Amino acid sequence: GLVNTKEMFAKAVAGGYAIPAFNFNNMEQMQAIVQAAVATKSPVILQVSSGARKYANQTLLRYMAQGAVEYAKELGCEKPQIVLHLDHGDSLELCKSCIEMGFSSVMIDGSHLPYDENVALTKQVVEYAHAHDVTVEGELGVLAGVEDDVCAEHHTYTEPDQVVDFVTKTGVDSLAISIGTSHGANKFTPAQCTRDANGILVPPPLRFDILEEIEKRIPGFPIVLHGSSSVPQDKVATINKYGGALVDAIGIPEEQLRRAAASAVCKINIDSDGRLAMTAAIREIFATKPAEFDPRKYLGPARDSLKELYADKIKNVLGSADKL
Ligand code: G3H
Ligand code: 13P
Ligand code: NA
Ligand code: ZN
Repeated sequence: GLVNTKEMFAKAVAGGYAIPAFNFNNMEQMQAIVQAAVATKSPVILQVSSGARKYANQTLLRYMAQGAVEYAKELGCEKPQIVLHLDHGDSLELCKSCIEMGFSSVMIDGSHLPYDENVALTKQVVEYAHAHDVTVEGELGVLAGVEDDVCAEHHTYTEPDQVVDFVTKTGVDSLAISIGTSHGANKFTPAQCTRDANGILVPPPLRFDILEEIEKRIPGFPIVLHGSSSVPQDKVATINKYGGALVDAIGIPEEQLRRAAASAVCKINIDSDGRLAMTAAIREIFATKPAEFDPRKYLGPARDSLKELYADKIKNVLGSADKL
């Protein structure tokens, strides 16, 4: 069945790679994630946001995720390692409900609460979750942009001086941190970037100095990076070529994520890149085959494109291929 993150994270930290955490909201996304994980022999985290639960119905998502394990076996994987994880849980009630529904991991995101309230809420979730063999991700520091329905103008980087106290008091299994990533496809404004010799925009680097400080305080403790889409410019170009209107779409360079994956960062969250891949594939088909009206004829290629993108992330960025 589904597994929690405990062993997976311990191995990833020791092995210098990161487990992919991909969001899913429907069957095609789930299939693409599982196909990519099986093809690369990678463990994988299927994550479900509150928005996904509202969109797809939590009962259907639950059975889809449980079915994902059987699906992986049908695809030829003997021992799939698949986690069903709640992304950005915002209350004890929501986390409890997901745990009762069979999730094997939850995030409680108290990052925009005052520190003591974040500690208290996270600790309550950990007590409930651990009694059910479910692992918990907490968060310290606030990502710029929209996170969990809360919009922040600037990054509030994780304060290294708080991490020992937080993980000790709460008992969390992993810690999401803020070092310059953010959600969505517009992570930096062009004004925040420089240009390379070819005129290509280069975003400011992540704060590896903060990550290193955190690692010094809690050596080997599993660290999580949210907002880690790279916003592939070929996908953006395809979308815009076929009628899209994405402006200043900029992500985290893959080189930076490779460096993060080699550290104690052991879970990297990617959603937006998958959205771009699906949208690019669908827009291209709508524009080039306007007579097509069978959803399988555009959702199928979108799924294939998503699988290819995820397999590439696993092999060439996160380093979790062949780790089953
Ligand atoms: O954290 C954000 C994830 O990309 C999920 O997005 O809340 O629109 O489903 P969502
Ligand atoms: P991206 O928007 O960068 O894909 O981040 C996704 C995420 O952090 C989900 O929790
Ligand atoms: Na790592
Ligand atoms: Zn996130």
